[in-house]
Amino acid sequence: MLPTILRCLSVALLIFSSLQLQVIAQASTANRTTETEEAAITDPDQECSPYGYPPVGNQLGSFPPIWEAASILQNDSAAQAKWNSISGSIPSNISVKTEPPASDYPSSDPDCWWTYSLCTTPKLSGLPLDVTAAPEPSTLGYGFDDGPNCSHNAFYDFLQSQNQKATFYFIGSNVADWPLEAQRALAEGHEICAHTWSHPYMTTFSSEAAFAELWYCMQMIKLAVGVTPTCWRPPYGDVDDRIRSIAHALGLQTIMWEYDSEDADVNGNSITDQTVENNYNNFIQTANNGTFNSTGAIILSHELNNFTMSEAVKFYPQLKTSFQHLVPVGVSLNKTQPYVETNYSLPTFAQYVSGIVTTNGTRVSNSTSSGSSTPTSSNPGTSSTASSAASSSNAADRAVDIGVVRILLGMLFLIASWYMF
Ligand SMILES: *[C@@H]1O[C@H](CO)[C@@H](O)[C@H](O)[C@H]1NC(C)=O
Ligand SMILES: *[C@@H]1O[C@H](CO)[C@@H](O)[C@H](O)[C@H]1NC(C)=O
Ligand SMILES: *[C@@H]1O[C@H](CO)[C@@H](O)[C@H](O)[C@H]1NC(C)=O
Ligand SMILES: *[C@@H]1O[C@H](CO)[C@@H](O)[C@H](O)[C@H]1NC(C)=O
Ligand SMILES: *[C@@H]1O[C@H](CO)[C@@H](O)[C@H](O)[C@H]1NC(C)=O
Ligand SMILES: *[C@@H]1O[C@H](CO)[C@@H](O)[C@H](O)[C@H]1NC(C)=O
Ligand SMILES: *[C@@H]1O[C@H](CO)[C@@H](O)[C@H](O)[C@H]1NC(C)=O
Ligand SMILES: *[C@@H]1O[C@H](CO)[C@@H](O)[C@H](O)[C@H]1NC(C)=O
Ligand SMILES: *[C@@H]1O[C@H](CO)[C@@H](O)[C@H](O)[C@H]1NC(C)=O
Ligand SMILES: *[C@@H]1O[C@H](CO)[C@@H](O)[C@H](O)[C@H]1NC(C)=O
Ligand SMILES: *[C@@H]1O[C@H](CO)[C@@H](O)[C@H](O)[C@H]1NC(C)=O
Ligand SMILES: [Zn+2]
Repeated sequence: MLPTILRCLSVALLIFSSLQLQVIAQASTANRTTETEEAAITDPDQECSPYGYPPVGNQLGSFPPIWEAASILQNDSAAQAKWNSISGSIPSNISVKTEPPASDYPSSDPDCWWTYSLCTTPKLSGLPLDVTAAPEPSTLGYGFDDGPNCSHNAFYDFLQSQNQKATFYFIGSNVADWPLEAQRALAEGHEICAHTWSHPYMTTFSSEAAFAELWYCMQMIKLAVGVTPTCWRPPYGDVDDRIRSIAHALGLQTIMWEYDSEDADVNGNSITDQTVENNYNNFIQTANNGTFNSTGAIILSHELNNFTMSEAVKFYPQLKTSFQHLVPVGVSLNKTQPYVETNYSLPTFAQYVSGIVTTNGTRVSNSTSSGSSTPTSSNPGTSSTASSAASSSNAADRAVDIGVVRILLGMLFLIASWYMF
């Protein structure tokens, strides 16, 4: 009698767990084949469940491993040719740096190394100035680093509800993981700039490796979103004239900042949530006392996680009050052609402030998105290219782990009851 009950219970446990795993598997391969489907998801756990997107997934072999330092792939003749064509113009008398700066780096800062001196006026001739502020009076060059973050829909919904556009500095590896999220930025009229492939301290990289970080970020944005950026922001602001010249040769304008919310730096010790609030409040006070009356500003903030995006939402009304205009950086520069592809435009500053916040960059219908490579309708569930980063700790994964343990236990019981009785 007892063995039969045990056996029945084990079988029941096995069946129950398998069924549950199937349900979870369906939920975690959420139905996302287009940007609009992705943008409609409201549960952050579901947003952050990985999915396959064949147009990008099928090409990952042509990119460096996601979240690893980039180098030119052996068989990538296009990247090699581009590097060969520019390498002669990259200064060879500027040393590769260490982080933090070595004690023997000359205090005269010959390389205009931002990390050392906050230098933004290159010393090497032929390089344009870094952009550090929106040139228009009382104007904030509004933007966010480190995206796309898988959970960004609440934030993008908020921006959409305010008819607010911004500049997004995307990490290539994040775009590879979350291509439809990257497409949403373009579809809703935001500006996209590059933020490297794997987010390193660029001055610590060889010139060829630094080139690869920029090149593959640009190529991934082109593949996933359909446009190639012409602006970039160095991770940690770590740029010198050697890195500037590589970016310049790739057609990338260097965008920096003069104010830092430190929203990505919270460590619970020297930088707390309160530090970030103070930074935002100081910045708003600085705007209120007329500091930006003749030239605007740029503040560093992030599309990194729920905290950084929540702070952005929280302080938006005050920024809106303290500045006459909040615009993407490219708009503040009248940069109407922000991409290599010339069929996509941004409004001029005058257009934007008169209420024309998008030109032909907006999503044109519910079911298609302009400016993005049209996704194929292949079944996302069959792709094996599900992303790995940012997802390993999500609820679905934990549930799967518990389910697998249950199945193993069930089998163990079954075998044990078989032999014992
Ligand atoms: C997925 O979305 C498409 C388009 O919205 C729809 O036609 C299809 O039925 C959906 N499939 C599933 C399995 O939900
Ligand atoms: C380079 O080789 C990888 C496989 O190692 C392949 O997936 C990729 O398509 C190749 N890329 C090019 C540009 O030929
Ligand atoms: C590096 O060489 C260039 C000329 O090629 C020169 O203009 C520049 O001053 C040099 N930089 C340093 C840091 O010596
Ligand atoms: C405005 O406030 C900032 C920060 O408190 C301060 O550094 C700056 O001197 C002030 N400027 C004016 C014109 O009051
Ligand atoms: C800045 O501009 C505002 C609004 O035009 C004005 O009220 C304020 O006095 C100006 N402040 C300074 C320091 O110029
Ligand atoms: C994106 O944001 C979510 C929510 O805060 C966070 O759990 C996740 O780690 C973030 N992803 C990355 C890649 O930082
Ligand atoms: C932060 O997370 C909470 C809880 O998941 C969510 O309701 C809220 O929309 C998120 N906020 C942002 C800006 O992502
Ligand atoms: C942008 O264009 C307006 C005229 O439409 C001009 O006043 C302004 O100076 C331009 N700004 C820049 C940064 O070129
Ligand atoms: C987008 O706008 C630009 C500039 O106005 C124009 O040249 C281009 O033809 C437009 N592209 C499309 C697809 O409408
Ligand atoms: C967009 O969706 C609305 C409501 O779901 C529908 O009435 C409308 O026809 C759709 N428009 C297009 C262009 O598909
Ligand atoms: C611009 O042209 C590219 C192909 O060159 C195309 O993939 C993209 O959809 C076009 N974008 C717009 C907004 O028309
Ligand atoms: Zn960053």
